[in-house]
Amino acid sequence: MMSSPPRPRHRFFAAGYDIGARIADVRLAPLRHLVAGEAEGRVLEIGAGTGANFDYYRWARIEALEATEPDPFMLRRAEARARKLPPYVRERLTLTQAPAEALPFPDASFDAVVATLVLCTVADLDAAIAETFRVLKPGGAFRLLEHVAARGFEAKAQRFVQPVYGWLAAGCHLNRDTASALRQAGFRVEILRRERFGPLAPAMVATATKES
Ligand SMILES: C[S@@+](CC[C@H](N)C(=O)[O-])C[C@H]1O[C@@H](n2cnc3c(N)ncnc32)[C@H](O)[C@@H]1O
Repeated sequence: MMSSPPRPRHRFFAAGYDIGARIADVRLAPLRHLVAGEAEGRVLEIGAGTGANFDYYRWARIEALEATEPDPFMLRRAEARARKLPPYVRERLTLTQAPAEALPFPDASFDAVVATLVLCTVADLDAAIAETFRVLKPGGAFRLLEHVAARGFEAKAQRFVQPVYGWLAAGCHLNRDTASALRQAGFRVEILRRERFGPLAPAMVATATKES
């Protein structure tokens, strides 16, 4: 766990997020369905943002749904969205302000952890993955939709634009090798789909299993 947990605050990013997300969801909706809509059991979503995945849990067989988000401006929007959810999801959902690097849950307390477009943004990737590993039950699954590092010339281009892009996109990193970081933390990683969100944004839908 980090000594001083990150406290992101991006008022303007939060204000515009749902407009951008609605446009992106023309493409992302089936992927959100695959990641969130098929989660089961006691589920944790980290970096839930404005709650773009919440509606997809109506198809999931969830016992309980904990959602965390550290940025108060995003969290406020997630709370507003939560109030409008169908009862099946709303009654199971609890929202908590917390960063992925310091999750306020006991060890081995979830069957599944969901993250969509979050590991690109967390301040400390390894700490966030370690916390996810800790809170998953043995056999539990980390279900992910993330854009990731490219190779070759595209990787160079990612590094070149990163300083400006990261500033514009509230700390998002284009060039994280998320699958390798997950494997190093002890997860078994299965890439279910390779995607591309645009130039410089290869992406993956993946499941990382904490083997029992
Ligand atoms: C691109 S948004 C994705 C939001 C949402 N998961 C979605 O799919 O629309 C990235 C999110 O990660 C959150 N975030 C930033 N730092 C974080 C951290 N250290 N731990 C967890 N979430 C973080 C941001 O506040 C933001 O809500």
